[in-house]
Amino acid sequence: MTVTRMPSTMLAQAGSTRAGSGYERYFRGALDQLHGERRYRVFADIERISGRFPTAKWRQPDGKTAEITVWCSNDYLGMGQHKEVVAAMTETVARCGVGAGGTRNIAGNNSPLVDLERELADLHGKEAGLVFTSGYVSNQAGISTIAKLIPDCLILSDAFNHNSMIEGVRHSGCAKKIFRHNDLRHLEELLQEAGDRPKLIVFESVYSMDGDVAPIGAICDLADRYGAMTYLDEVHAVGLYGARGGGIAERDGVMHRVDVIEGTLAKGFGCVGGYITASAAICDAVRSFAPGFIFTTALPPAVAAAARASVRYLKRSGVERAAHQRQAAATKAALTEAGLPVLDTETHIVPVMVGDAELCKAAADHLLEHHAIYIQPINYPTVPRGTERLRITPSPFHDAGHIARLAAALSETWQALDLPRAGTVFVEAAE
Ligand SMILES: Cc1ncc(COP(=O)(O)O)c(C=O)c1O
Repeated sequence: MTVTRMPSTMLAQAGSTRAGSGYERYFRGALDQLHGERRYRVFADIERISGRFPTAKWRQPDGKTAEITVWCSNDYLGMGQHKEVVAAMTETVARCGVGAGGTRNIAGNNSPLVDLERELADLHGKEAGLVFTSGYVSNQAGISTIAKLIPDCLILSDAFNHNSMIEGVRHSGCAKKIFRHNDLRHLEELLQEAGDRPKLIVFESVYSMDGDVAPIGAICDLADRYGAMTYLDEVHAVGLYGARGGGIAERDGVMHRVDVIEGTLAKGFGCVGGYITASAAICDAVRSFAPGFIFTTALPPAVAAAARASVRYLKRSGVERAAHQRQAAATKAALTEAGLPVLDTETHIVPVMVGDAELCKAAADHLLEHHAIYIQPINYPTVPRGTERLRITPSPFHDAGHIARLAAALSETWQALDLPRAGTVFVEAAE
């Protein structure tokens, strides 16, 4: 959100006088509550610099700018500035213009979008792909529509699923059961209890806050045994894992066993948009019935072309994936060596635990103001209270110098604010 300063003459005609109508107090009250719970969010004003990732410009509250290093971007591989991706976008925008011209129902397909869907279907070894305006929308629209079209469907949902999946489950109106995170025994109990009715298991491959990974093959075994369908969110894995960037399911050799694979074009692929890939019938049914697909303007052709260039590039190049894993491992090693409470993850995500909302924000502010390092604090409701953290995402562009400076800056910050060290047990606070 951006708050604009208006001249007083305009203010007199605008919303602020209408505050007298009495409604304004509800919004102020809600914000006061967030402040009171120490979880009001402030976004830094950052401008990315193409060709110099992870360096960016930070516009400070007084309007001055400073160069900073970004350590929390989900443009995991820096593909947002890759020359083939930038070229695809600029060439397509020059050829096709900026917008898509409408929803696909009104304005038809645009060819780059059709090509992108073919590329994505091929990436995951599926018959078809369907692109949405974001990964969030693809989950919300995909899960809700698929489940609604299955009579008497019971959804089995991992306890740590992302909000977009939870909203998809909720919008389906179907019965649901939540299984304990990555707990195969609990999932099996629920499948057994459900009996013969149709069942849909929804889960993620890489869980983005703790950086852990689902046992996809074992979940597919259970799905086979109990006759369930599977829906997998690979948002934090596409582009990053597997020989062609197909995600953890590709890495584990189980892509063909998952019914629906969902992903984003915004993280590993560095663009924007989301998608599902599945059988032709599933994608066609979602295309035909999902309001989140039907009633919103399509992704612009230039974005689709850029995303396709990124997907194509990462299918043939593993250099970025290898460098990403190498730099993530080097970052974890350096922070662990410095005695920081790094959560032991098996992926590229490096959470450093703080365990308190106010201290987490103070640490982020200190890093930005004293060390020109930007890491957004992660607080409730993104993570449970008591497990607040800094979520660090190394990329192939964070070199040894960046890592050494990060370790030194975090050590100084931990000392200055007297934050908990490695060995501390972080417990979720009771709600
Ligand atoms: C697991 C998961 N799924 C879906 C999304 C939404 O993806 P997008 O950012 O493309 O809307 C996110 C966003 O961070 C996510 O973490």
